[in-house]
Amino acid sequence: MTTDGPPVIVEDLARLAAHALTVLPEPSTRALRIGLGSGRAAAAFIRALGGRVGAGLRACGVPTSEATATLAREVGIPLAELDRNLLDLTVDGADEVDPALNLVKGYGGALVRERIVAAASRRQVILVTADKLVPRLGTRGRLPVEVVPFGRPLCERRLEALGCRPRLRETDGRPFVSDNGNLILDCAIEPPDDPAAVDAEIRRIPGVVDTGFFFGTADTVLVAEAGRVRTLDRVASAASRRSE
Ligand code: A5P
Repeated sequence: MTTDGPPVIVEDLARLAAHALTVLPEPSTRALRIGLGSGRAAAAFIRALGGRVGAGLRACGVPTSEATATLAREVGIPLAELDRNLLDLTVDGADEVDPALNLVKGYGGALVRERIVAAASRRQVILVTADKLVPRLGTRGRLPVEVVPFGRPLCERRLEALGCRPRLRETDGRPFVSDNGNLILDCAIEPPDDPAAVDAEIRRIPGVVDTGFFFGTADTVLVAEAGRVRTLDRVASAASRRSE
């Protein structure tokens, strides 16, 4: 997985990770089951969680990427697979956060598993630096779209027809391949008036697996800014879909 984005300040990530530890549910008789996001902010949290596990916290993690699985093993977090029970919490990063806490994700290419793990969690906590806060989704001009390799030409043509300008993501001059064996088309976009409508149009294209728009998944966003961490909570909680 690539990590891609503006430079981050290590202290900001450490501050976010430490704060995220404070929002973990109280330990109970069973180990906490935590969704582990992907990218730099999530990695900082995973390292901090590893320290806590080393000190005796009973927790296991469901990783959202192979890179995250590798890191979690390195820092001593036992890994688990998704089962039919909800995870207690997922901690992840994001590439854009709008005022309603909707997100753009996927600059690191892990969007599909990130969405699955988020949906399988009671709560999603997002860690970002303040530069990720945007007035409208699409402000940074890029929307990742994961596509099945066989369908790439069709997907590119249809995305262009929708006004997106797709570009195949590459790493070291070769196509980037997601953990699911798919390609990522990074679409140049202007902030749409109705991102949900654009998302629905893109999802209608045969071969599209997922888009980077995440609506209504984040319950809490922790923002590192000016040497402190600010907490943003979704007003109408996303928890209703996780009351199973
Ligand atoms: C991975 O696919 C992404 O969704 C990441 O969560 C996102 O790119 C944030 O990454 P950073 O924390 O590295 O900016």
